[in-house]
Amino acid sequence: MSSDSSLLNPFKLNEALQTRNRVVLAPLTRARAGKNRVPTYAMAEYYRQRASAGLIIAEAASVSDVGLGWVESPGIYNDEQMQGWKRIVDTVHAEGGLIFMQLWHCGRASHSSFHANGELPVAPSAIKLNGDHVHTPNGKEPYETPHALTIDEIKKTVQDYRNAARRAKQAGFDGIEVHSANGYLLDEFLQSKTNQRSDEYGGSIEKRYRMLNEVVQAVIQEMPVERVGVRLAPNGNFNDMGSVDYRETFKYVAQQLNQFGLAYLHVMDGLSFGFHEQGEPMTLDEFRQVFDGPLMGNCGYIQETAEQAIENNKADFIAFGRAYMSNPDLVERFSNDWPLAPEADQEVWWTPREDGLIDFPAYNADFTR
Ligand SMILES: Cc1cc2nc3c(=O)[nH]c(=O)nc-3n(C[C@H](O)[C@H](O)[C@H](O)COP(=O)(O)O)c2cc1C
Repeated sequence: MSSDSSLLNPFKLNEALQTRNRVVLAPLTRARAGKNRVPTYAMAEYYRQRASAGLIIAEAASVSDVGLGWVESPGIYNDEQMQGWKRIVDTVHAEGGLIFMQLWHCGRASHSSFHANGELPVAPSAIKLNGDHVHTPNGKEPYETPHALTIDEIKKTVQDYRNAARRAKQAGFDGIEVHSANGYLLDEFLQSKTNQRSDEYGGSIEKRYRMLNEVVQAVIQEMPVERVGVRLAPNGNFNDMGSVDYRETFKYVAQQLNQFGLAYLHVMDGLSFGFHEQGEPMTLDEFRQVFDGPLMGNCGYIQETAEQAIENNKADFIAFGRAYMSNPDLVERFSNDWPLAPEADQEVWWTPREDGLIDFPAYNADFTR
C-alpha cells in the first residue's frame, strides 16, 4: 500500500515544511526534566530514538512558573531550559528529523505548591476542577479553586507565550504547537464549562476564542505562521472538560484559525483518551469542512485506521502517543510489518524515574528470526 497519500509517504505541508512520512510523535509529558525543569541528555536520547517520525511534537513545556502543574515536566521560560531544548533539537536534526515545541500553561489543573510564591493556580473563571487530586511536588493534594485572571494578568500571560516562542525559535525548533487541549488554560478559555467571564474574554463563543487568538498572534511574532500549529480536544473529558456547546465552539474556533495560514490543526478526534459524552463525537470530517489547512488526527489510532484516515483524505497525518512510548521505531515497524511492543506500564508514563524512558528497544529482526 503505497500511494502518495499513504501513512509512510512524505507530506508537503507548505513551502517551509515537508515531513518524510505522516506518522507523528504525539506530545507526551514524561516528567524526566528534574526539579529545575531543564531538558536532559536522557530526554535528547529519547527523542533521537524516535526521530524517524515524520514530525515530533515534543512534550508540553510550560511558558511560565505560574503555568506549571506537573512534577518535573520541562519549561521554556529561562535560558538554561532553552539550552537544554537546543541540545534535543540538534540531536533530532542530526538524525534528519523535524521537531516542534508544544507550549503549555496548566491553568486551573495546577496547584499552589508548584508556584514559587505559593500563588493559586489561575484560570478564566474561579471554577474548581472536579477531580480526585493533583500530583504536586508534595504528593497528592486536592484541587484548589483557581484565581480568575485579571485583564492585566491575561496580557502578561500572552506575553509569556511570546517569550516562550522566542526561546523556542532560539533553540532551533522547526515550529511550535500551541496546546489548547485537555483542559489546560487555553482550552479553559474556549469552553463554556470553565469560562464564565462577562468581560471581553468570556460569554459568547467569539469572546471565549479571544485568548487563543491573542496567543497565536503573539507566537507568530516570533515563529513564522506556517510553522505554528494548534491542538484542540473537542471530545475529551480529561481534566474535567466537556461543554454542552462543544460542537459550535470548536467549529467556530477551527473556522477562525483559517485566518492565519497555520502549519496544521491537530484534533484529538478519537475517544480513547476520554470522552465527555455531551453528544455525538466530533469527527475529522467536520473539521475538514471548516478548516482549510493541513489536519492531524489523534487518539487511539493503529496503523490500519491511520492508513484509512489518510487514504480517505480525512487527515493529512496521524499522531501516535502511547504506542510511541514502547516503540521508538514505530515507523520502521509499520514499514516492515513488524509487531508492536505492548503498551508501556502506566507506572513509567509520567513519573520522575530513570527507567521507562530510553530503555524500550527498537525491533531486532535478526534476533527474532
Ligand atoms: C504519558 C502521556 C503524556 C501525555 N502528555 C501530553 C502532552 O504533554 N501534551 C498533550 O497535548 N497531550 C499529551 N498527552 C495526550 C497524547 O498526546 C495523546 O493525545 C493521547 O495519548 C492519545 O493518543 P494515543 O491513543 O495515540 O495514545 C499525553 C498522553 C500520555 C499517555
